[in-house]
Amino acid sequence: MTNVIIAPSILSANFSNLGKEIQAIDMAGADWIHLDVMDGHFVPNLTFGAPVIRSIRQFSKKPFDAHLMVTNPDDFLEEYASAGVDIITVHKEVTPHLDRTLTRIRELGCKAGVAVNPGTSISGLEFVLDKLDLILIMSVNPGFGGQKFISTSLDKIKSVRNLIGPRNIKVQVDGGINDETAFKVIDAGANVLVAGSAVFKGEELENYKKNINILRSKV
Ligand code: DX5
Ligand code: ZN
Repeated sequence: MTNVIIAPSILSANFSNLGKEIQAIDMAGADWIHLDVMDGHFVPNLTFGAPVIRSIRQFSKKPFDAHLMVTNPDDFLEEYASAGVDIITVHKEVTPHLDRTLTRIRELGCKAGVAVNPGTSISGLEFVLDKLDLILIMSVNPGFGGQKFISTSLDKIKSVRNLIGPRNIKVQVDGGINDETAFKVIDAGANVLVAGSAVFKGEELENYKKNINILRSKV
């Protein structure tokens, strides 16, 4: 398949040189730059927030795809939009007013996404499909890179694909994506692959290029 979007997660990048890493991943052929924002509450890890995103924005023109793993995303939407993020994805588990949150994301000029953890059902999403640009199926419990792919996510990807029907909503998968799992999730109906450790291994541009090409060749 040709129109699969590869979104490397900079969680696996060298944080001491983030600007250079963004440039490298852009030149290596990334379609989107996936930004894992973690707050140490919703997930047991902390990463970075809007000020860091604002400072790295200049290093690539590719879409910035922010995955907000925070308990109170509504408090930060404006901040992320103004930092230059193109896509904002919030977690279903922490958005009781999902319809309002998605509406707000679009009002801010961004594409709107919702993410579901491995143990979370997609039920209810049928009521907000017209407000969604992306559904993110987590294939690991979020918090860390390099975890093993949870294979029950394949059934969830199929269900979400059925739910979406002909609508123009992307199906993104995040966690444990590598040369052995990529084709399975694409077969199930995904069209955006997030990959951290599988892309950033080798720690330099030539390897990133190779890693992205391997993923593309598998789907
Ligand atoms: C997990 C993050 C992922 C993570 C994926 O909490 O949302 O984006 O970086 O890492 P890999 O591809 O190494 O599983
Ligand atoms: Zn992510």
